[in-house]
Amino acid sequence: MRYVGNVLAAAVVFVVAQPVLAEMPTLPVKDSYVVGFSQTESNNPWRLAETASMEKMAADNGWQLVFTDAAGSAAKQVADVQSMIAQRLDIIVIAPREEIPLVPAVMAAKAAGIPVILVDRNVDQSLAVAGADYITFIGSDFIDQGSTAAKWLLENFEGEGKIIQLEGTTGSSPANDRAKGFVDTIASDDRFTVVASQSGDFARDLGRQVAEALIQAHPDANIIYAHNDEMAIGAITALEAAGKVPGKDVMVISIDGTCDAMQAILDGKMAITVGSSPFMGPHVAEVMKAYAAGEAIAPWTKIVDQTFTPANASTAPENCF
Ligand code: AHR
Repeated sequence: MRYVGNVLAAAVVFVVAQPVLAEMPTLPVKDSYVVGFSQTESNNPWRLAETASMEKMAADNGWQLVFTDAAGSAAKQVADVQSMIAQRLDIIVIAPREEIPLVPAVMAAKAAGIPVILVDRNVDQSLAVAGADYITFIGSDFIDQGSTAAKWLLENFEGEGKIIQLEGTTGSSPANDRAKGFVDTIASDDRFTVVASQSGDFARDLGRQVAEALIQAHPDANIIYAHNDEMAIGAITALEAAGKVPGKDVMVISIDGTCDAMQAILDGKMAITVGSSPFMGPHVAEVMKAYAAGEAIAPWTKIVDQTFTPANASTAPENCF
């Protein structure tokens, strides 16, 4: 009897809670907002450019930005968002480090009546849904980025390609999707094989270390596909330390569009970087104003990116970071 009673109690809580959770929090029209920005880490140029873009957006609009840096820890990032909820900020913008661990933070903000925008990385759509649990996801199409890198190889690489893949942060949407887009696309051409794939956590030095070990284990690898430029630059250092010539013995392809990657392309050490814009600030302000005005917001505010090769890298430094 007691067991059945508990089950019933749980069911009642579920039924009562549902209508409250179904409501999306609103954002009043105001001259000034206090905007939370929960960043994942600040260890690479992409992250720094994203933070600078958010700071500029707040300053340009005369809004206050409350910034937190999770220092590479999903657990800290959840705590950061909880603290923003406790401070009753007007809106919380999150760059979720990983797809699943940040879901409770998104749902907690929603339950507290604070609207959320996700930027650059998304959360697992089977657990929290854009347009229902948070306003929108503002970011690039990471599957398309991986596929663009692979298509470039199919068109430009001659012979048999043995690929080392340096993956981004395990469990993050760009790592998952950049791998999927790439692997699905090269599967159409049996000249290519991924001989090794390991995470370098989107970090330059870890990328270097992982590349060093994988080059040693697979000396015949002739392509390195890195999920971001920082790991690609680390891989170039590893190749040179191993006595190989990047761009000649091993083709390096990557994603982001950093200034260092542009230089590596101009130096002939990197073949291509698929751009991934970190400039989220203006999109956030636009979405906030439209949402406050009651306009319908698309669940995905898609950022269109540019690809850089030797043909256009020299013109890119104005856009790089
Ligand atoms: O989420 C975007 C990725 O995260 C960028 O490609 C990478 O450099 C960053 O750390």
